[in-house]
Amino acid sequence: MSATAGRATAQPDQEGRRGGFSSRRVFILAAIGSAVGLGNIWRFPYVAYENGGGAFVVPYLVALLTAGIPFLLLDYAIGHRNRGSAPLSFARLRRGAEGLGWWQVGICFVIAIYYAAVIAWALRYTFFSLDEAWGADPEGFFFGEFLQAGDVEVTADVVPGVLVPLALVWLAVLAIMVLGVQRGIGATSVIFIPVLVLAFAALVVQALFLPGAADGLDALFTPDWSALTSAPVWAAAFGQIFFSLSIGFGIMITYASYVGRREDMVGSGLVVGFSNSGFELLAGIGVFAALGFMAQAGGVAVGEVASGGIGLAFIAFPTIISEAPAGALIGVLFFASLVIAGITSLVSVIEVVISAVRDKLDTSRRAATVAVVVPAALLSLALFSTTSGIYVLDVVDHFVNQYGILVVALVSMLVVAWALRALTGLGEHLNVHGRPRVGTGWRVLTSVVAPVGLALVLVFALRDDLRAPYEDYPSWLLLVFGWLLAAVLPLVGFLLARLPWRAGTHLDGPPPGSDPAAPLDVTATADPTPRDRPGSGHDEGGLR
Ligand code: PHE
Repeated sequence: MSATAGRATAQPDQEGRRGGFSSRRVFILAAIGSAVGLGNIWRFPYVAYENGGGAFVVPYLVALLTAGIPFLLLDYAIGHRNRGSAPLSFARLRRGAEGLGWWQVGICFVIAIYYAAVIAWALRYTFFSLDEAWGADPEGFFFGEFLQAGDVEVTADVVPGVLVPLALVWLAVLAIMVLGVQRGIGATSVIFIPVLVLAFAALVVQALFLPGAADGLDALFTPDWSALTSAPVWAAAFGQIFFSLSIGFGIMITYASYVGRREDMVGSGLVVGFSNSGFELLAGIGVFAALGFMAQAGGVAVGEVASGGIGLAFIAFPTIISEAPAGALIGVLFFASLVIAGITSLVSVIEVVISAVRDKLDTSRRAATVAVVVPAALLSLALFSTTSGIYVLDVVDHFVNQYGILVVALVSMLVVAWALRALTGLGEHLNVHGRPRVGTGWRVLTSVVAPVGLALVLVFALRDDLRAPYEDYPSWLLLVFGWLLAAVLPLVGFLLARLPWRAGTHLDGPPPGSDPAAPLDVTATADPTPRDRPGSGHDEGGLR
């Protein structure tokens, strides 16, 4: 930690100020909060199991070290140096690149509206766990009584059992976001990340004592070395790393813009990257120990009960909770962990949108929060608290992940590295206070290895989607909420970039005073940045 870290003081978000995290520690917790999400708990275990089990460690670690962490550092450098939301940071790299930032903002907006719905389900299931409300048929209960899912069509039939928790999730998000970067996002992470780790660790311990747990771990960890020669396995590893670290779609640019100028961003990136992977490993152990129990109780092989995503959380886990000793406790720990992990990720995507609106329109935090959260909540409620919510959610999730996040990440990485040739400057920025130093190796990884990894993931995703319609959904659904949605986002992004910035917004390069090597004058809280009037889009009073 840099020498000034301890002296940085929390600055309340004031009208017209961008705000910032009070210390590197808070930033790291918020970044871990964003990274550790549903992807860690319900995606990683199954991806690892399906792609070589114990042998998956190899491609996974290679992807983490050669693409994940280098790309994370690139995001950090863009935001930390340019001190702006994604559109402002890209605009400061090169005016014409602003649209990339808005494209990322659009993706974040879409993710937020459906991610909230999954959190709402988990919230409801935390309480269902207490009396095993799903009875003897968790699957029938989930789709039938709970979601009331009908035919695959878009309806306006509201399901109150989803509407109420979803409204509560959005109210919580509104409250957190109005409080601002430090008192809202920062404080939420400082409180809830330790709670999440403790709750999840308790769950893992409990799962490990269930009969059959060892079989589950065997199934997860037994290496299938032949997987190492399979390209789809490598693509799965890169895909998991990119999704899991929340990189390439604006989140880390935004959060890094709120970090004091003299902080070590490289060390922070290593802490965040390894913590996130540590949590994935923990989740893998907990989930497969529980699945091992489920398999033994049902007298079947682990492979027959292994699953990921919605099926794991809302069908397999309820079954486990019903059968296991002290199942209610397992249920509460599991679903509460999903809710916490989800909320800290949800606020990070919403912040991408709010900070962009604030930077561009020069509005107060409160106005921008209301302008973003209210429409997002209404759309979310309209689309996902109806009897057709699950289908739309599944399709949007699949396509926005594959052709939203991955494509924007690939394009922005290539633009920054090859069109703007910005890597050298960004690397120098990281090195002023960062350790270990980044150099040619990092530039090669971010300009060549990471894009190749991403392209690989995309090719395999495209191949699968063109071969057969995703999950056999009707083509109109895939077209509207899948392909069209993914294609419209970059267009909207580049249109938004045409809107003018408020007069006086500094756009040519990093804002004055953002050089972290500038002498530290007067006191630790003085801001050397010439500050024009509040809300100019400059780094005003965040932290240093
Ligand atoms: N890293 C997150 C996860 O694992 C990905 C994500 C972040 C998704 C923010 C949505 C919003 O779930």
